[in-house]
Amino acid sequence: MINIKSPREIQLMKEAGHINYLAHQYIEKFIKPGVTTLQLDEMINSYVTKLGGYCSCYHYEGFPKHTCISVNDEVVHGIPSKRKLKNGDIVKLDFTVRKDGYESDMTRTYLVGTVSEDVQNLVLHTKEALEKGLSVVKAGAKIGDIGYAISSYAKKFGYGVVEELVGHGIGTNMHEDPEVPNFGEKGKGLTLKEGMTLAIEPMINMGSKSVCMLDNDWTIVTEDESFSAHFEHTIVVTKDGYEILTGE
Ligand code: MF3
Ligand code: CO
Ligand code: CO
Repeated sequence: MINIKSPREIQLMKEAGHINYLAHQYIEKFIKPGVTTLQLDEMINSYVTKLGGYCSCYHYEGFPKHTCISVNDEVVHGIPSKRKLKNGDIVKLDFTVRKDGYESDMTRTYLVGTVSEDVQNLVLHTKEALEKGLSVVKAGAKIGDIGYAISSYAKKFGYGVVEELVGHGIGTNMHEDPEVPNFGEKGKGLTLKEGMTLAIEPMINMGSKSVCMLDNDWTIVTEDESFSAHFEHTIVVTKDGYEILTGE
């Protein structure tokens, strides 16, 4: 079932999303060679808590930490640990912030020190792929328009677009209907309506689109060990377009 949100609910999601955005802005300066992913997790959790939010990944379906931190070939659901970031790595920080019963979901891929040009391009193009997906959102558009915009852009560069994991509706729950795949056909699928709130999140691999799960039963990695990038925003569909809820 797809919930259309009222203006009041959208306002609450914007408050949760703003804390999420501020936490991303805050953490960026600490992303350097030598920092551990657990230190980043703890800093984000303290900051979000201080701003009145709750890191709702914590114990979600048994997830052990507050944030998902995925390095290099880890696509999503990396578990914060004593792993130290090193020069040339890329790191995806993906976390949800709940406030007053409403969720927000946001991801950015960060560069650690000096990163090879190929990998810098992967990150830039994945960010752009999210923009392409967002650009077709408006009441009356179809879910397939979003996936088509993302995948047709990413495939131009020869990248693999992950299909096993998808974007999603979001609201009082982190994951709600509908699914928002990063592939699809123009004009196909569910019709978007004003007041739908969606997390749109392309996950794009430098190599093949194939992924597999690590033994920890959480972390998804690329099968060919190629680097993967990920960007995510929570948005609300409007009459003429969309509004970003995980923003300034
Ligand atoms: N933030 C993830 C998403 O984009 C979900 C994380 S679930 C967790 O959908 F349990 F791993 F935290
Ligand atoms: Co997320
Ligand atoms: Co999400």
